[in-house]
Amino acid sequence: MAVPQIVVDRLAKRFVTSSGALLALDDVSLSVTPREFCTIIGPSGCGKSTLLALIGGLVVPDAGSVAIDGARVSGPDPRRVAMVFQDPGLFPWRTALDNIAFGLELRGVPRAERRRAAADLLGPLGLRDFALRYPRELSGGMRQRVAIGRALAIDAPIVLMDEPFGALDEQTRVLMGEWLLGVWTRARKTVVFVTHSLAEALALSTRVVVMTARPGSPSAPSSGRRSARSL
Ligand SMILES: Nc1ncnc2c1ncn2[C@@H]1O[C@H](COP(=O)(O)OP(=O)(O)OP(=O)(O)O)[C@@H](O)[C@H]1O
Ligand SMILES: [Mg+2]
Repeated sequence: MAVPQIVVDRLAKRFVTSSGALLALDDVSLSVTPREFCTIIGPSGCGKSTLLALIGGLVVPDAGSVAIDGARVSGPDPRRVAMVFQDPGLFPWRTALDNIAFGLELRGVPRAERRRAAADLLGPLGLRDFALRYPRELSGGMRQRVAIGRALAIDAPIVLMDEPFGALDEQTRVLMGEWLLGVWTRARKTVVFVTHSLAEALALSTRVVVMTARPGSPSAPSSGRRSARSL
């Protein structure tokens, strides 16, 4: 058994809302090994996005910890972790190429070098003829591929994906899933992928983790415990 790359240990996260405290995650533990394609599935509101945000260091836990390569996560670290969200969140005034290159620009990579790196991704992304198109000129699937390209461009070993195909129609979704599997096979990344779709989870993953909302209303903190288990 490989040494885990991501270790989530007894995480708890509580949000303060206008109607009181809400326990989004309680006592969630999970280990992900290098180059695993681990899919997290579960009903709406069970805390999948919260878990991903905690792994990515975007949210601070109330209890427990997340460690990556043995180091405790205390904030976002783009050198280790890239994120893709359900909404591609592209800059409308940038071309596909310059959107893909954005993370490299943040890192201070010179323009020619970052454009070369982004251009190298266009082929695998199926966007070779669309480098200079703006997001409004792309289909929904293409926009998602640009967003995934932007995450891959920074070449972090871990990619967290929160329902990246959630807004796509079923057929495009299946094609994008097949495409992503090809990318994952070549790029050798560790992927943690959130979806609502059991079919998508089973088609893509080396492992499926099911998060369950225990009986009770999600808005009732006392009954809002969550757990994760592997299929
Ligand atoms: N910033 C926040 N402030 C208050 N409550 C929040 C916040 N983020 C999430 N929550 C609550 O935490 C719970 C878990 O939310 P989360 O977004 O993680 O669920 P999810 O499993 O990703 O759901 P979905 O499948 O609908 O995306 C929900 O009850 C939600 O209302
Ligand atoms: Mg979510």
